[in-house]
Formats: sequence, structure tokens, C-alpha cells
Amino acid sequence: MKKVITYGTFDLLHEGHLNLLRRAKALGDYLIVGVTTDSFDLERGKMNTVQSVTERIAAVLATGLADQVIIEEYKGQKLEDIQKYDVDIFAIGSDWVGKFDYIREFCEVVYLPRTEGISSTQLRENLSCVRVGIVGTGSIASRFVPEAAEVNGVKVVSAFNPDPELCADFCRSFSLAQAGTYEQLLESSDAVYVASPHYTHYEYVKQAIEAGRHVLCETPFVLRSDRARELYELSESRGVFLMVAHKTAYCPAFVHLVSLLKSGIIGDIVDVNASVTTLTDENSDKLASSHFGGSVTENACFPLLPVFKFFGTDWKDLRFYSKVRNGVDIYTKGILLYDNAVASFQVGLGAKTEGNLVVSGTRGYAYVPAPWWRTDYFEIRYEDQNQNKKYFYPFAGEGLRYEIKDFVGHIAANDLRSYRLTREENIRMADVTDAFLNKIQVFQI
Ligand code: CTP
Repeated sequence: MKKVITYGTFDLLHEGHLNLLRRAKALGDYLIVGVTTDSFDLERGKMNTVQSVTERIAAVLATGLADQVIIEEYKGQKLEDIQKYDVDIFAIGSDWVGKFDYIREFCEVVYLPRTEGISSTQLRENLSCVRVGIVGTGSIASRFVPEAAEVNGVKVVSAFNPDPELCADFCRSFSLAQAGTYEQLLESSDAVYVASPHYTHYEYVKQAIEAGRHVLCETPFVLRSDRARELYELSESRGVFLMVAHKTAYCPAFVHLVSLLKSGIIGDIVDVNASVTTLTDENSDKLASSHFGGSVTENACFPLLPVFKFFGTDWKDLRFYSKVRNGVDIYTKGILLYDNAVASFQVGLGAKTEGNLVVSGTRGYAYVPAPWWRTDYFEIRYEDQNQNKKYFYPFAGEGLRYEIKDFVGHIAANDLRSYRLTREENIRMADVTDAFLNKIQVFQI
């Protein structure tokens, strides 16, 4: 019996795929089809697949052409499969000509002419698309536009900045329509990305929700918990999706770190410590007391993410130790006490620390090197160093594409509840800044 194997993503299965599978099958008696997993596609930088691996496998099986479907999980798996399944012919579309010649050592390699005029990419482009307007045109917005281009189902269409010259420059460099007013921006979009200074978030978000627009708001979301709660309640009553653009919460390494540690591999977690410090120009708005600047307001939402993920939001005691200059904290250490655990964080705009994350447990600890908030790597360490393990993950581009993909995925599925960073977690992050701004248990050093 002659065995043939072929591989692909097979997203939105189309005529080109069918032609390929038919011709691959005709090369032998038994056809094995390898379908890439979602995580392997992510690792290869294929962010825009619409269907999940189970849907794609179901579609391949429904063609009736595959005798066996396997999943392709990692780079280099093909050679292993070819030997394991005793394959005679490896077949693949002609867009790959030359790329798989190394396989000839193990079996025959056939490149089949690609069907012209159709691809998953084209089909995805025809699907409905969320039109995004950006308010605020600073550095994070400049990173957002190219990242959004990597994600399927979203298109940045326009931008608004109260300073028309800055806005014009931004729109010119990214070929976007310039909105003369915020109302115009809302009219021309289905969703807004709020990337303005944090003290302006509340008004922009509220107005967008009231206009029925979905909102992706940069961190820190808002600094007061009553405002955070109000905005969530408003979004729920209007049936729009409100999500906070906390990029770490959506990154593959962080997502896996949380579930791995929750599965108990370092025992009971007793301590979390995380730091985020970014030395900032003294004249920056980020250090202006008139604009609620300072290290806690600017950066605390980052270390609070792992703290909340591991210990929840029900702390028993919260204290801050701050170094203050010109009425603003240039450095703060925060300590949160829980029933059976303790957590601490350091944030600084005027002092520098190592920016790592350490999660300590009764059997071992996790070490995430600086900058932990955009990591592609961490280690699990034990008393017996032979048991230590290193984990590596993709971190594509600036990492914003993960949150953007999540955002449009929720909108497409009409699922208004974000679980990677919950409503409660965002409200409680605002509780922390609220307590700090109200000088509750704030001690100067
Ligand atoms: N294929 C083909 N003709 C097409 C599209 C795909 O023969 N018009 C073949 C590819 O060469 C590959 C297999 O189908 O051997 C699976 O391809 P896949 O990457 O899943 O499909 P594409 O439509 O090329 O997807 P994308 O647009 O995301 O690259």
C-alpha cells in the first residue's frame, strides 16, 4: 500500500484545498493529512486563522478524502511522522517548492501546482471586519496600527487627537482618515482604541460606550474603582464589549505560566513579587501631579496582574512605601497581604530595579526574567536543580497582536466577558490606585 502525507492549516476549507487533497490522494492508496494546531500556527506567526483546530480537522474529514488526520504540533515533526507512518510520498502545494527537498532522504517529495485565484487569506479578507478608530496618537498608538494589520477581522480606519497637527502627522504616516472631532471618530468606527493619557480615559470610554461602540482601553484603565464599575455597568447595559489593553494578560507565555502554576507544579503559592520600573524624564506628564502622574498610577496595573491571577482580588491589607518628589511618587513598594500568602511589587518612574517576576511556592519557584511583562521565556526551579525546566514561547512583534486578536474574537462571537483580564480584576486594580491617591496606608520613605 502506497502512503501519501500532506500538511496544512486548512482554514475555511476551499476549492484550492480540495484540489490539493484530491491530487495527493490520487498519488497513492492511503492519505494522511496533518493539520496544524492553533498554538503551532501562533508560533509560526500565523495569527489570523479563523477556525479552531477542531473545526479545521472536521472540515478535512468531511471531504471524505483523508484516510487519517493527524495534528502537527511542532517544527520538525514532519520527518518524525514520515518515518513513524512509513510514508512513501510527501505532497505539498507548489508555493513550497524547494522548501521540503530535505525530506527526499526519507521519501519521495511531490510539489503539486497550487490552484490559482483562491486562498484562506483572501477568504478571510472578505469576512466581516471590525473598523477601529484610535483616540490618542502617541507611541503606543504607533505600535498598535502595524500590530492590528497582523490580525484578521480588524481594520484601523481613523484617528483623533485634539491637537490637529499631531493627528494629521499620525494619519499621514499610517494612511488613516483624520477625524476632526471625537464624535466623527465614533461615527466612522465600530470600536475605539483609547490610547490617550490615562487621566482622559474615563470620558472617552464613557462617550464611546454611550454611542454603542466597543472599547479597547489602554492601561491603566481608570484610577478610581467607582468609575471602573460604572463603565462596566454601562457597557453591559449597552451590550458593547469593554476590554482593557493589558498586553501581558494576553501573551502566550504569561497565559501558560498562570495555568501551569495553578496546576500545582511549584506546590502552594506563598509569595509573588513583580517589578516594573521605567526611568522617565522629570518633565514628563507621567510625573505631573496635576495629571495624577506617578509610579503607582502609571505602572501598578502591571505587577498587580500576576498578583491577582495567583491570589485573587480579596486582599486583607494593602500598604505602600513611597519615595516622593514634587508631590508625586517616583518609586513605590506595595505589599498586599492575603489569608495564606503575601505579594509585593515595586514600581518606579524615578528609580530603577530589576524588572523580573518571581512566584514562590512550597515545592519550587517560577522565575520570569526582565522584562517579565513581555516575556517569551521563564524557568521553573526546584531545590534539586536537575528538575529545573525552561519554557520558551513566541512573542511576535510588539505583542499587541495577541490582545487585538482577543478583542475582535470576543466581538465576532458576541461574547462580552473577558476572562484573560476580568471585570473584577480591572475594578480592583482601580481600587489599588484609588487607595494610593487617597493616601490610605501610604508611608513615605
Ligand atoms: N493550496 C493549494 N491551492 C490554493 C491554496 C492552498 O494548492 N489555492 C495548498 C497549499 O499549497 C498547501 C495546502 O493547500 O499544500 C494547505 O494550504 P494552507 O496554507 O492551509 O492554505 P492557504 O489557502 O494557502 O492559506 P493561507 O492563505 O493562510 O496561506
